[in-house]
Amino acid sequence: MASTVLITGASQGIGKATSLQFAHNGYNVIMAARTVDRLNAAAEEVKAFAPSVTAIPTDTRDPEQVRKLIDQAIAQYGSIDVLVNNAGIYSSGPADSFSLAEWHTTLDTNLWGYIHTIHFLLPHLIAQGHGMIVNVSSSSGKVPIPYLVPYTTSKFAITGLTQSLQSELSPKGITVCGIYPNLIKSNFMERAFFPGKDQEDAIARRKQLEQVLNVPVVEKPEDVAKAIWNAVKHKKTDVMVGSANASLISNKLFPDFLQWAMRRTFKNSDKDY
Ligand SMILES: NC(=O)c1ccc[n+]([C@@H]2O[C@H](COP(=O)([O-])OP(=O)(O)OC[C@H]3O[C@@H](n4cnc5c(N)ncnc54)[C@H](OP(=O)(O)O)[C@@H]3O)[C@@H](O)[C@H]2O)c1
Repeated sequence: MASTVLITGASQGIGKATSLQFAHNGYNVIMAARTVDRLNAAAEEVKAFAPSVTAIPTDTRDPEQVRKLIDQAIAQYGSIDVLVNNAGIYSSGPADSFSLAEWHTTLDTNLWGYIHTIHFLLPHLIAQGHGMIVNVSSSSGKVPIPYLVPYTTSKFAITGLTQSLQSELSPKGITVCGIYPNLIKSNFMERAFFPGKDQEDAIARRKQLEQVLNVPVVEKPEDVAKAIWNAVKHKKTDVMVGSANASLISNKLFPDFLQWAMRRTFKNSDKDY
């Protein structure tokens, strides 16, 4: 019988590439995201390769919607073997320019969205005595990034969530893995937001990132999807994807220099202290 994976943020970017990766490897795929048309279109593509695909429109920030997502998935497939927590949002600007609502948008999606799926799925995983939870974090879940404070906060929280869960759940037969990619050329700019000192600053931040994303060496969603598949296949618990290794090593060897260089790069029109 085919194994089953549930992937959040599956309609685009890393989530869609991961859905295709698992489909090619014979998994039933449950795909969740908010925008129905785009989710259904992505599911149609994945259907060509998977034994079974189910698209379930879900806003992972809403616990009630996530409870229904897990209930429907269990009712249809009996069990879930792998959960890939991936739905996330990017935000960048000086820390003092974020409104509380903008802090919430970042943390409600990147942290609480992951907690919601884990909360409702965990009793099933513990009862079945096996399974894997993969949390897509970011290199900024291990390396602090200036001008990305709410995002970095959410991703460091995912590192703690992942590592403490792994410690507690491994004796119960469940593996918990953190995936840490660097910048990836996905569709994240569509929903990214850039609070700035003023409109000009916000526009400059967006443009700066768009330019970096056009550099050909920037990694692709498929690179992360392969790393996730490899992690599941070999039950890994901690995966720095490609160039993220260099970020981690630089931060260990030259933390002051790296932080200074990143402040210079990302400050735009913020004051240089
Ligand atoms: N791209 C990068 O540079 C990069 C680097 C490191 C880590 N990551 C992490 O990788 C993950 C995926 O990022 P990506 O670059 O592939 O993003 P993306 O291209 O923007 O795709 C995001 C996906 O998440 C869904 N989504 C967003 N908010 C949601 C919500 N509240 N509920 C359910 N689904 C939601 C989106 O669909 P809807 O909007 O229709 O819901 C979409 O399917 C994120 O956790 C991100 O932080 C990305």
